[in-house]
Amino acid sequence: MSMPLAPVIERINADLDHAVQRLFALLRIPSISTDSAYDNDVKRAAQMLVDDLAGIGFDAKLHETTGHPMVIAQHAGPGSDDVPHVLYYGHYDVQPADPLEQWDSPPFEPVLVDGEHGKRILARGAVDDKGQMMTFIEAFRAYQAVHGSLPIKVTILLEGEEESGSPSLDPFLEANKEMLAADVCVVCDTGMWDINTPAVTYMLRGLMYVEVTLRGPSHDLHSGMYGGAVVNPINELTRILGQLHDERGVVQIPGFYDDVRELDEAEARQWEQLGFDESAFLESAGLKTPFGEANRTTLQRTWSRPSCDINGIFGGYTGKGAKTVIGAEASAKVSCRLVPDQQPQKIYDGLKQFLDERTPPDCRWEVVSHGMSPAIRVPTDSPYLRAAMTGLAETYGKQAVLIGCGGSIPVVGSIQRILGFDSLLVGFGLDDDRLHSPNEKFELRCFEMGIKSHAAIMSQLAGVSRQRTAPTEAAVR
Ligand code: BES
Ligand code: ZN
Repeated sequence: MSMPLAPVIERINADLDHAVQRLFALLRIPSISTDSAYDNDVKRAAQMLVDDLAGIGFDAKLHETTGHPMVIAQHAGPGSDDVPHVLYYGHYDVQPADPLEQWDSPPFEPVLVDGEHGKRILARGAVDDKGQMMTFIEAFRAYQAVHGSLPIKVTILLEGEEESGSPSLDPFLEANKEMLAADVCVVCDTGMWDINTPAVTYMLRGLMYVEVTLRGPSHDLHSGMYGGAVVNPINELTRILGQLHDERGVVQIPGFYDDVRELDEAEARQWEQLGFDESAFLESAGLKTPFGEANRTTLQRTWSRPSCDINGIFGGYTGKGAKTVIGAEASAKVSCRLVPDQQPQKIYDGLKQFLDERTPPDCRWEVVSHGMSPAIRVPTDSPYLRAAMTGLAETYGKQAVLIGCGGSIPVVGSIQRILGFDSLLVGFGLDDDRLHSPNEKFELRCFEMGIKSHAAIMSQLAGVSRQRTAPTEAAVR
């Protein structure tokens, strides 16, 4: 069944305003997965997606888990067994929106505002990941409207817990291997090289995230009566965490670098050829000066070197005005971004050892894990990846580049391990999209080109032979 691409692209152009409105409806739901106060909103977002997908030819259902629900939708495609079966992944949950006062407009009231690349969509979840997720859903919608079907067989998996470490994902994949069987997964949750240069991401860092608490005195103490004569957990916690890095930015957790491989020369050269604009990257964070592990480039620091950061720190009195008190305990959230071959459990054990070796007298540690996922590399020589590169080049009129990513997407490792196939990471975010920050945005142009790219990629994927051997002529054309 031939399904030409050109009328699909025309349809995407004609329907763009409606696509923006559909995305806005989803962005209005505060589906914050980490805060149980929003459980009902998370569910509402899932249900909205089920209804939407059912309306465009999918068999769509909401699947309960012990956490937030999964949305699963299936489409038989053109009815031929020769085309690949592709699993599409996105997440409909978002990060908390605080600090609210730093937003130019309310985070769950999406608006179009002017920016340097034209209009942009401003809202929590605009790019991460509702806007990106809707790029492939809109591509399906256009195909369905024009051809009454899709050129490939599709299963969609939409998660509602990605931003809280995907606790239900692995058990769900284990329990539903058959339903989720496919040849390859397309994940739309990463970025482009720049607004004119599409990219496929081939490596992601992993994550080991803990919350540590140091407890000392039996209760909060008057800081005049006791100050200077007893252990202060906040003083001690900050002193100890201050030793996590040495003066050259090298992480001091025992064994931290044991399994870290040096970048091979060919890869280093390929990265150099990308022509990374370091000042633009720093400027996107309001900064001027590179920072981090000595003798490494910024790209290496974010793509191929591990890092360790304190993500939050609290304890004692943090209300208005002064309260002269020595808090009985102090806590911090600490995360490590990991690179290939580092084992999250080993890094966790190393961090515990680092803390234990420094326990102040009369104090004790509590360490709670908030999730671990290893780093990921996907093969760059697969026919699916070539098909994606071709579809992107066709859409942008420019060769796509292969890039790394400092962030983590736990589902990629889980799919590799549990379902047994690799992922194709194609995304349309930009470095200055303010993921997880106030004023998160998604360029309208990225949204539009993302939809068109997915349509073109689908058309290319349809030509890849299912034997997972060399691409067919259609795929390399
Ligand atoms: N979309 C991001 C991953 C990402 C970050 C892609 C930066 C491209 C650039 C994803 O939603 C995310 O934020 N993941 C979390 C995972 C964590 C909670 C397990 C992350 O990396 O912090
Ligand atoms: Zn995110």
